[in-house]
Amino acid sequence: MNTKKYYITTPLYYLNDKPHIGHAYTTIAADILARHLRSKDIPVHFQTGTDEHGSNIEKIAKEKGVDPKAWCDELSADFRQLWKMLNIKYDYFIRTTDASHEAAVQAVFEKLIKSGDIYLGSYDGLYCRSCEAFYDEGELKEKNCPIHGRPVEQVSEETYFFKLSKYEPALLKHYEEHPDFLSPRYRAQEMINFAKSGLKDFSVSRTKVSWGVPVRSNPKHTVYVWIDALLNYATGAGYNPENVSPDFRTLWPADVQLVGKEIFRFHGVIWPAMLMALGVELPRKVYAHGWWTINGDKMSKSRGNFIRAEDVVKDYGVDALRFFLFREVTFGQDGDFSLEAFKRRYNADLANDLGNLFSRVMNMAAKYLDHRLPVKPESSETFRELSSWTPAIHHSMEALQFSEALEKIWQGVGTLNRLVDTKKPWEMAKTSPEALKPFLHEMIWCLRLIAGWIDPFMPDTASRMHLQLGVGRTDDGTEPQKVPPLFPRKQDEKPK
Ligand code: MSP
Repeated sequence: MNTKKYYITTPLYYLNDKPHIGHAYTTIAADILARHLRSKDIPVHFQTGTDEHGSNIEKIAKEKGVDPKAWCDELSADFRQLWKMLNIKYDYFIRTTDASHEAAVQAVFEKLIKSGDIYLGSYDGLYCRSCEAFYDEGELKEKNCPIHGRPVEQVSEETYFFKLSKYEPALLKHYEEHPDFLSPRYRAQEMINFAKSGLKDFSVSRTKVSWGVPVRSNPKHTVYVWIDALLNYATGAGYNPENVSPDFRTLWPADVQLVGKEIFRFHGVIWPAMLMALGVELPRKVYAHGWWTINGDKMSKSRGNFIRAEDVVKDYGVDALRFFLFREVTFGQDGDFSLEAFKRRYNADLANDLGNLFSRVMNMAAKYLDHRLPVKPESSETFRELSSWTPAIHHSMEALQFSEALEKIWQGVGTLNRLVDTKKPWEMAKTSPEALKPFLHEMIWCLRLIAGWIDPFMPDTASRMHLQLGVGRTDDGTEPQKVPPLFPRKQDEKPK
């Protein structure tokens, strides 16, 4: 029997620029959840990829004097390279230029033309080239695009429309019956209000954009890039209305779709309406996270205001970045990224709290345990107490409350540090050597617990800890070795 896999998705990243930490954020979140579930032996399918069509990409490629596909090949590879560096273990990477995806998008379009959910008309409206979206007068900010702050253009063109208006009642009913569908709750209301305000049919094809998927029965139109991109979640899982792959049954519906708050409308309103039109079950949850700003400002390439993951990793390592992004800010809310805050947390939480604790315990184990690590769990009060926190930590992880989980884990780290400070094992070695061994055994078992908890966040660190702690060894103890610090402390830079 094929059991349903837990299907996690990230948005497809636009190939208009190289990735920055904003993109890394959504992908790392998905990876943390995927790793957590896999550790509980839950079969997971994690899909990410790149969004490659549309006039923006066509324009950039033209400016660079390259073919759009060649541009996409290069930039899509940059994303995959970064995911590798950040230790992201996805199961499938989809590109909207994949032939199977394009064929499925064409089949969807034809199916919806046939059912009447997509119809031909003409559009007069205000269009933002950067968003590739139309706006109503009332949505503009000082007559400019509300997202990019750039002027919009009056555009008139023949276009296909999607009958979004028809699905308003069904959407509202779905939101009501599935209160977790739009998450977190505090972001849901805006979507519900939007849906209640009267949904209008919207344009889903372009005659002016040639870098896109052609409509099969009317190829002077290409499919609007957002429709093309949204469909990836289904097509990547094997959906094509003309030929549904058996995989689709083990993957669909998606369990968690992670998105940034600015694309919640596309995912919380338009996407479910499309699925309803196709007669496909809706995803179980769409979760919108907040935005990282830099010194209070939006990250943007044009303003030179962005941070690349590679630069942070070069100085602090992959795990420190994975940790910081999810410890500093509640997943769902906005946060400000500053290198000062990063360094502060690195030194305090990682170098001091966890790193020092680990090296203190391991050094004492090397010195006092006769080079043998315990292979059997000791029953001891602290270990029992900390073990009882596991369900709460797992619960936070599954609710995507990553900072809550990390806070609890660091409470555990704090408990252990205090225990070492009060018990003073280096004195025990002189005054009560018979009590020292069980104490160190207990600490080692507690550190094993901590290493397991941090594994989804910091897989490299966890495996280094596991190795030192002899996890997975069944022989009579293993030799603890001298270990380099997990997180070398960063000194303040000297003024030049
Ligand atoms: N291509 C569309 C998504 C199509 S999905 C069917 C798109 N791409 S994007 O590259 O602009 O953004 C992708 C993701 O990166 C979004 O989830 C977005 O929120 C996230 N981030 C980009 N910059 C960000 C920050 N500064 N902070 C947090 N996340 C941000 O939208």
